[in-house]
Amino acid sequence: MIYFDNAATTPVDSDIVAVISETLANNYGNPSSLYQIGRETRQLVDQAREVFARSIQAKSEDIILTSGATESNNTAIIATAMALREKGHHLITTMVEHHSVLHPMQYLETQGFEVTYLPVDKYGCVTAQQVKMALRSDTILVSIIYANNEVGSVNPIKEISEVVAQHPAYFHTDAVQAYGTLPIDVKAENIDLLSVTAHKLNGPKGTGFLFRRSALHLPNYLHGGTQENDHRGGTENTAYIHGFAKAVEKMLANRQENNDHKQYLRQYFLQQLTEYGVHFGVNGQIEGGLPHIINIWLPHLKSDKLLIQSDLQGIMISAGSACTAGSLEPSHVLMAMFGDNKERILESIRVSFGKENTTQEIDRFVALLAKLQGRYNEETIKEG
Ligand SMILES: Cc1ncc(COP(=O)(O)O)c(C=O)c1O
Repeated sequence: MIYFDNAATTPVDSDIVAVISETLANNYGNPSSLYQIGRETRQLVDQAREVFARSIQAKSEDIILTSGATESNNTAIIATAMALREKGHHLITTMVEHHSVLHPMQYLETQGFEVTYLPVDKYGCVTAQQVKMALRSDTILVSIIYANNEVGSVNPIKEISEVVAQHPAYFHTDAVQAYGTLPIDVKAENIDLLSVTAHKLNGPKGTGFLFRRSALHLPNYLHGGTQENDHRGGTENTAYIHGFAKAVEKMLANRQENNDHKQYLRQYFLQQLTEYGVHFGVNGQIEGGLPHIINIWLPHLKSDKLLIQSDLQGIMISAGSACTAGSLEPSHVLMAMFGDNKERILESIRVSFGKENTTQEIDRFVALLAKLQGRYNEETIKEG
């Protein structure tokens, strides 16, 4: 099996599985209980919060533990809009956000808010100037993805946030794909809200965090207990939170080495495509893009068919984001980048590398692509 879909999710490292299992077995106390086993579990949660805060140069009281980035994004957008609705009804985002940002935005539109969806350039990026032009006196929130999950392009976040910092609006970024690869400093980068999930960095699914500057008073959104400073009631998922913290520590310790490896694989992949005579175009940035994501256009190979043909060979790739691929809808990101170029949108795939991938795996995949495209060429020559 060859797994090239690490932007969708990553395998959980065996030592993280061990940490989670041990915590499940040994730390069953409720972190809100005052007796010893409760206090011990509370300590695990508090320590994890410190790790998350340090990883983005934040304060631990600014971290809200969540069930993953969908919840973090929903909270950042809907709870902030609710908190600030007396101040204005306008939000700004981009056309290439993950659905966990786009759908809350669309929901807010049904509630009387107005949203500007910024178009992107051919790399899938927006500029600080675009944001500046879109800001209005009633803008309350700007939400711009840090790095795109489908094409890997990185937005000029610092420049954008500097523009937003001159305005009363808050700045949120979905940093899910960037967090494991780029150093993030919420203070230096003027970020008010930031979403992260564990399962993109070899941690467990169903756990993540939302950073929000404590000056921004979000309303309680899960009513019940007083967990997460009253924001989010519910007994903490202690084992996964602890496992997530270990995954973050590991990621920080090995980030450079892993980035170098993925960068090398991506370069090797492009080199091999050329060597094997595969016709392709790159969607997104090579220079400055995330090292683990490469999105390519393969003329004449329909991506939905290619997904199945690859799967039959035990190779896992994706077309667009996981849910886009699941519903076989054309990617909204590629549509925003390439407009009417239907072929390019329907003939593009995302390959995303993990730290365990090898050049031998790339050789097998490129050989398959060359064979499939060669077959197409033979068929068209015969037909012609
Ligand atoms: C950019 C981006 N945002 C949000 C999410 C949603 O994260 P989660 O699966 O933790 O809800 C993902 C994961 O697919 C993503 O890639």
